[in-house]
Amino acid sequence: HEFMEALAKAREAHSLEHREILILLQARGEEVDALGRAADGVRAASLGDEVHLRGIIEFSNYCRQNCLYCGLRRDNRNLRRYRLTPGEILAAARKAAGLGLPTIVLQSGEDPHYTAPVLADIIRRLKEEVGVGAVTLSVGERSFEDYRLWREAGADRYLLKHETADAALFARLRPGTTLQDRLLRLKWLRELGYQVGSGNIVGLPGQTLKTLAADILLMRELDVEMAGIGPFIPHPQTPLAKEPPGELELTLKVLAIARLLLPRAHLPATTALGTIHPQGRRMGLCFGANVIMPDTTPPPYRCYYQIYPGKAGLHEEMETTLVSLKNLIFSLNRRVGSGPGHSPKIQGGM
Ligand code: 5AD
Ligand code: SF4
Repeated sequence: HEFMEALAKAREAHSLEHREILILLQARGEEVDALGRAADGVRAASLGDEVHLRGIIEFSNYCRQNCLYCGLRRDNRNLRRYRLTPGEILAAARKAAGLGLPTIVLQSGEDPHYTAPVLADIIRRLKEEVGVGAVTLSVGERSFEDYRLWREAGADRYLLKHETADAALFARLRPGTTLQDRLLRLKWLRELGYQVGSGNIVGLPGQTLKTLAADILLMRELDVEMAGIGPFIPHPQTPLAKEPPGELELTLKVLAIARLLLPRAHLPATTALGTIHPQGRRMGLCFGANVIMPDTTPPPYRCYYQIYPGKAGLHEEMETTLVSLKNLIFSLNRRVGSGPGHSPKIQGGM
């Protein structure tokens, strides 16, 4: 009864207190199904049946940070590092556009090699020469000036996951950085007019259900246009190699509650979700997700972008991946999104 009350409130008011989120996070058995159905209903009512495909180009796996959970951390000497040239990035985007992917996500480790003007030039050419509908950046923590330059060059969106709302855990897992700095940058991105994306990792060592409830409340407070929610996957060449992975069901619950509280946000069925379970992305789409981000990194480099091991879809041709993703979408009676798929909060978006 406590569970049903919290669920009804979430569905109607799209607002919950920390205590009520905790109740939903403890859903078991049929309650989990009910949570998923509620999230799916809210997704359908506020965003419709379109599933947006965003091509992701992982253009550099160099990173100056040393996050304990990530295979790209600078202390991982067993990883072959690569950087795509501007020409290679543009070619990858052209290929993605040719395959019907209207928007592009540029993601990398924190790599200062790409100076702000160099990246600005790439963004400008993506929009003007390739005709990319929307450019999303995901290149980590940079200066206000850098973010401003990229926004002026035409970048539309920025993904900067807050990773965990527990400041102490954040500092431990991301040495030399703070949650406060991260949140400041999310504020800058907002000021600069980006569509802002945040998100968390589910199942980090040292994380509790209370932290997860705080994660969800933080995303709501930030009023994010996008949120990436994925399970922790231990990487063998990191200090967290021996830790257990995040659980599928818990990740789905976090996703569903995020959907209930952020009815219009774009929520991807993350690659990490597809990695811990063969049906992970399908289940994500049924628990509130409305976006998929297929990997459009050129094949020779793709296997070196090892944030975590066993990444879903690693060895497939892009054409094959797209066919199976479209089949997945159709099998759920959903449609492939058309156009740039802007946040419905943005004028002309949907
Ligand atoms: N497991 C799951 N997600 C991870 N990320 C980094 N390392 C891992 C891991 N081991 C996520 C972070 C980052 C995104 C690019 O990848 O949330 O924001
Ligand atoms: Fe670098 Fe991001 Fe990996 Fe941290 S999570 S090591 S910032 S790529």
